[in-house]
Amino acid sequence: MSQPAQRHEFQAEVKQLLDLMVHSLYSDKDIFLRELVSNASDALDKLRFEQLTSPDLGAGDDLHIRIVIDKAQRTLSVLDNGVGMTQADVIANIGTIAKSGTKEFLSAVKGASGKQMPPDLIGQFGVGFYSAFMVADKIEILTRRAGTTVATSWESSGDGSYSIGEGAREQPGTTVTLHLKPVDAEQGLHDYTEERVIEGIIKRYSDFVAYPIRMAAWRKKDDKPSEVKVLEDETLNSMKAIWDRPKAEVSESEYREFYRHISHDWTEPLRTIPIRMEGTVEAYALLYIPAKAPFDLYSPEMKRGVALYVKRVFVMDECKELLPQYMRFIKGVVDSHDLSLNVSREILQKDRQIQIIRKQLVKRVLAVLEEMKKESSKEYFQFWAELGPVLKEGLLGFDVQDKDKLLDLVVTESTAGATALTSFDAYVLRMKEGQDAIYYLTGATREAVSKSPLLEAFVQKGYEVLLFSDPVDEIWLGQDVKFKDKPLKSIGRGEIKLGSEEERKKEIEALEDKSREYGDLLACLRVHLQDEIKEVRLSSRLTSSAVCLVSDDHDMSARMQKMLKQLGQEPKKIRAVLEVNPGHPLIPKLAAIFHENKDDPRLKLYAELLLGQAHLAESGELPDPAAFSKVLADVMLLTA
Ligand SMILES: Nc1ncnc2c1ncn2[C@@H]1O[C@H](COP(=O)(O)OP(=O)(O)OP(=O)(O)O)[C@@H](O)[C@H]1O
Ligand SMILES: [Mg+2]
Repeated sequence: MSQPAQRHEFQAEVKQLLDLMVHSLYSDKDIFLRELVSNASDALDKLRFEQLTSPDLGAGDDLHIRIVIDKAQRTLSVLDNGVGMTQADVIANIGTIAKSGTKEFLSAVKGASGKQMPPDLIGQFGVGFYSAFMVADKIEILTRRAGTTVATSWESSGDGSYSIGEGAREQPGTTVTLHLKPVDAEQGLHDYTEERVIEGIIKRYSDFVAYPIRMAAWRKKDDKPSEVKVLEDETLNSMKAIWDRPKAEVSESEYREFYRHISHDWTEPLRTIPIRMEGTVEAYALLYIPAKAPFDLYSPEMKRGVALYVKRVFVMDECKELLPQYMRFIKGVVDSHDLSLNVSREILQKDRQIQIIRKQLVKRVLAVLEEMKKESSKEYFQFWAELGPVLKEGLLGFDVQDKDKLLDLVVTESTAGATALTSFDAYVLRMKEGQDAIYYLTGATREAVSKSPLLEAFVQKGYEVLLFSDPVDEIWLGQDVKFKDKPLKSIGRGEIKLGSEEERKKEIEALEDKSREYGDLLACLRVHLQDEIKEVRLSSRLTSSAVCLVSDDHDMSARMQKMLKQLGQEPKKIRAVLEVNPGHPLIPKLAAIFHENKDDPRLKLYAELLLGQAHLAESGELPDPAAFSKVLADVMLLTA
């Protein structure tokens, strides 16, 4: 004897949720199908799990999801042959809200004025099944728990109550039937009785769901238009989620093909990184390090790599929260098992799960790069040439732990080797006895740094200098960086002390002697150059060039000022120091002219020429080329 249907009131929170749903919390109504398919997939997972111990449970091994459209009745059904529900399950799961997060969410909404949702609250909770009321004015559920014979039938119009009773279902599983609202394009209500619409939504959100989602190509029976005759089954989804399969079971070509699919990049990736996380968070990820930098790497509109899935159901592309900006070239997917499908970008920023996943991803990528660096320097240098500059942006960040690992990854040119790049580690091993800093030089181009006069004394005395010429180098190296316990010191800044204490003492004495000798001349040059130069002093860095430009220890470098200007800022003009080589034959000649006649007009011209040379050696550019040409012509007139 079947029991008559009973009417039940929804829990107060559910009413509230339904109300929000109907008044359209989400502009994207298509997501209802994603939710129903995800529930069906969950039910199939549960059955598969129970089948491990009771192999005869359920409908055998053809686990699938089916979508049935009835155009005449305007209904859409989602069927699964999963675990199903008992009547008690239906009452407990549908019609009440168990999740505490959702309750909190609703009370927060209640606090907010009217129906205006604070945007950062959306997505904090799972709307799940109830989202179907966005597109349907009546929903029926017919379900039978695997292992039982009685089915349950449930029905509601989303108006505060539902009826529940016994029903009949041939096989265990669940059928959810939506009586669709009229199509209303303006409201985002598409025609969900159109196969192509359904197929599109499935492809977008549910392509990787592990079970086949079948839709029947069908025809109305001529005599009974409301009944259909199934012609053939079509599987709408590819199911090929390779990220949750063990690495050993996936072939290289499958990994490659998936890379192409997500990146539209036809070159092979340098590395494929499958990741499995267990413990506090459960997630899978599949990341790729591309071989080539994408063309839009520095464009703010760049399409950033990682897509987010929740249990194989697509949630969003370009999930910026999953990887730091400096890893924006990484492509791949992350599939979390614990997030809500409706998670919003605002929530992601604060979500603890996401923070943990992100930390792990960063750790893995850095570890793979470290390994690559050890395994094959050729391959690593190739990577570095393409993407090193982006990775170095990470050195500007605040995460100290990542910074140390990133410093380990940095390779750059050096005065020690003409071709191969070197790392800080290798540099430290080659440091001279008593050397307490890692010396480096930054410049606008490789050419300019490798030929800079600032290197002269270092090379002569056998000190290695690391050479940097990416724009980002100027910035991160300007932040008082240390590698392990060794400070990094720019050789273009402040005073330089090379050699043993004794050697240094001698050098200082010699320089002091020379300063006395040339003091008046230096003062004269300073007067002529006072608008452009902070100081003129004798140099201990130069051996063959006559002059060079340096900055004071804590002053912003000239290149940095230039970069800021390019970014549209107005940095305070900080003048550089002009250093003069007392060992250069020009200097005694200038001194002689000066002592003969302090007001000799040549002195001003020569001062300008010296400064111009120093600019050219530093960057290959002159701040005022026209003025410099005029000075040159004037000098030629004097001597011609
Ligand atoms: N097709 C189905 N088969 C079996 N049980 C189902 C099915 N659909 C829904 N349920 C039950 O109803 C519950 C509520 O579904 P709902 O989609 O609202 O939330 P959820 O799936 O638990 O979480 P969320 O969708 O927010 O991630 C599910 O937890 C499940 O127990
Ligand atoms: Mg759900």
